Amino acid sequence: MLISSCSALYFSPGGSTRAVARAVADGIAAESRDIDFSSRAEALAFGERDVVCFAAPVFGGRIPGVFAEALRSVSGNGACAVVLAVYGNRDYDDALLELADCVKARGFRVIAGGAFVARHSMVPEIAAGRPDAADREAMALFGAAVRAKLGADDFTEPALPGKRPYKEYGGVPLHPSANRKRCVKCGKCARECPVGAIPADAPWKTENGKCVTCMHCVFTCPNYARALNPVLLAAVRTKLKKDCAARREPETFI
Ligand SMILES: Cc1cc2nc3c(=O)[nH]c(=O)nc-3n(C[C@H](O)[C@H](O)[C@H](O)COP(=O)(O)O)c2cc1C
Repeated sequence: MLISSCSALYFSPGGSTRAVARAVADGIAAESRDIDFSSRAEALAFGERDVVCFAAPVFGGRIPGVFAEALRSVSGNGACAVVLAVYGNRDYDDALLELADCVKARGFRVIAGGAFVARHSMVPEIAAGRPDAADREAMALFGAAVRAKLGADDFTEPALPGKRPYKEYGGVPLHPSANRKRCVKCGKCARECPVGAIPADAPWKTENGKCVTCMHCVFTCPNYARALNPVLLAAVRTKLKKDCAARREPETFI
């Protein structure tokens, strides 16, 4: 198949998922479009000769619910999809399968999938420095393999790991809040929060009932004012460090 367009479409609150989506898309085609659904979605329609690399971070073994919802505004019309799960070295559980199911329901043909490790956005010392050079090489090779598969007009769907019904996601009982002394009320976090959990007129607050702990506000604050409660985070860190101790390697399905 002659590729008409290649896109990287992602939800990436902390930036790692974007990096993976971009690296794989770059391996597929010399030029690719960047479609960032991290703060908001847009209605998009693709066609049979388009390729879209859909990338999601893994939250509790699932794809973030807000991203699954946002994908409803995208129509595949037979376009090819590469699904990518990006996780913090614990596990991706059912996330890759869930992402594939979501895009198939939107009319895409899933022709490849990959799970890649990146820095853990809640505890950044876990998988620090990932993706590293070896990960990036695996992404480039995977992109090239996808390109070869398309070149051979092979649109078969690979078997992807994961179970249905998907693992239940219980959420995270931690939500970032701002240090009022550091917060300069610029409102960037409120504008960019994917779920509108930060009031524009009081950006030092967080509506915990809405917050999905995606960590975007922590990474985007220009004054480093937002963080998780350090005492609560310490307990999570201890458990996660144990669960994430052994290095996981990239996995690809084609
Ligand atoms: C709320 C939350 C839940 C997470 N759950 C998992 C998980 O189940 N398994 C895992 O390995 N990493 C998990 N992570 C780590 C992220 O999947 C990982 O850091 C990812 O690279 C974040 O992508 P981003 O930088 O594009 O936001 C979680 C992170 C957050 C914030």
